[in-house]
Amino acid sequence: MTGPLPGPAVQEILGRYPAAHQRSAVMPLLRLAQEREGHVTQEAMHEIAGILGLTPAEVLAVATFYSIFHLKPKGRHVISVCHNLSCSLMGAEEILEHLEEALGVGPDSETTPDGAFTLEHAECLAACDIAPCVQVDYDRMLGPVTPRDVDALLAELRTGAGGAA
Ligand code: FES
Repeated sequence: MTGPLPGPAVQEILGRYPAAHQRSAVMPLLRLAQEREGHVTQEAMHEIAGILGLTPAEVLAVATFYSIFHLKPKGRHVISVCHNLSCSLMGAEEILEHLEEALGVGPDSETTPDGAFTLEHAECLAACDIAPCVQVDYDRMLGPVTPRDVDALLAELRTGAGGAA
């Protein structure tokens, strides 16, 4: 826990919205909280609710509706496996099952006990032309991938430039 959200950053965000529409700041405030902690904490949701005059349940509803917000800590590396139509047709389920077995976790944002990896399935990542595709840390897109490719990826992430995993 890093403490309350920084006042200047909160004021900058609130300043983007007319006084009558301050509640619209809920998403950037959730994003600010997530950037500080790596995920959105209960404390942050209560704080945001207080800032905006919402109930904590209303803030939670927004945080759980959008997949960009994480309510649990993530691993040092997040591996997202697309499982929409193109990727499914091209073998995404095999990739996901291979990663589940290799990491010993399920695909619903589960994190390995050592905190190295979070595995999640993703909706279309807009890279259908390289299906089946995998995204690393919401940034790096790989595809088309095979089980052998994801083995190489895990080995690289465990030892590579992405930091010891
Ligand atoms: S279906 Fe996988 S990237 Fe579009």
